[in-house]
Amino acid sequence: MRIAVLTSSSGSILDAIVSSGINVDLVVVDRDCPACNIAKKHSIKLVEHLRSFGPSFDRESYSKTLAELLKSHSIELVVMAGFGTVLSKEFFEDFPNRVLNTHPSLLPAFKGWHAVRDALLYGVKVTGTTVHIATDQVDQGPILAQEPVRILEGDDEQSLHERIKQIERWLYPKTIKEYINKLEKES
Ligand code: GRF
Repeated sequence: MRIAVLTSSSGSILDAIVSSGINVDLVVVDRDCPACNIAKKHSIKLVEHLRSFGPSFDRESYSKTLAELLKSHSIELVVMAGFGTVLSKEFFEDFPNRVLNTHPSLLPAFKGWHAVRDALLYGVKVTGTTVHIATDQVDQGPILAQEPVRILEGDDEQSLHERIKQIERWLYPKTIKEYINKLEKES
C-alpha cells in the first residue's frame, strides 16, 4: 500500500511511524518545518507543497492540487501527523476512508490546534490521544483508537503534550498497521 504522510510539525510522530517499519512513500509539508529533516534522514521523497497564510489562501485550490499530487504518486493511504491545514470536502471525497489522523485529546473533547492547552485551561484531570479516520469536519470521524493520559500537578502545555506524544508514537503506528491490514483484507 502506497502511503503519504502530511505534516507541518517537528516530525517526531513521522519519525515514529517510519521507525515502526511502515513504508512511507512520500512526505508532504505545507510549510518549512523540522519534519523535512526527518524525511531526509529516512531518504523519503519530500514535497514542499507550501501554502500562504492570511486572507489570500485559497483552500479549495490548495486541496485540489494536493489531491492531484498524491494521486500522481499513486498514494492509497494518507496519514496526517501534525498537519496544520484544513483540507476541503472534495479532498476527502477523493480519498474516502483513506485519510487518518492522530489528535492530542480524547475526542470529541478539545478539537482544534490547541487541544493540549485547552484541556489544561478547562482543568480536566484526564486527557489523552485519539486516532481516527479524518473527514472534512475537523477532528471528527470514526474513532479507531484512544488512550488516556493523566494530568499531573505542575503540568504545563509542553510537559503534557510530550507525555501525550509518547503514547501517540506507539499508538498511531500500531493503529495504522491494523488499518492497512483491514484495507488489504477487503481488497
Ligand atoms: C501530535 O501531538 C499530533 O497529534 C498533533 O501534532 C503533534 C505532532 O507532533 N496533531 P510532532 O511535531 O510530530 O512531535
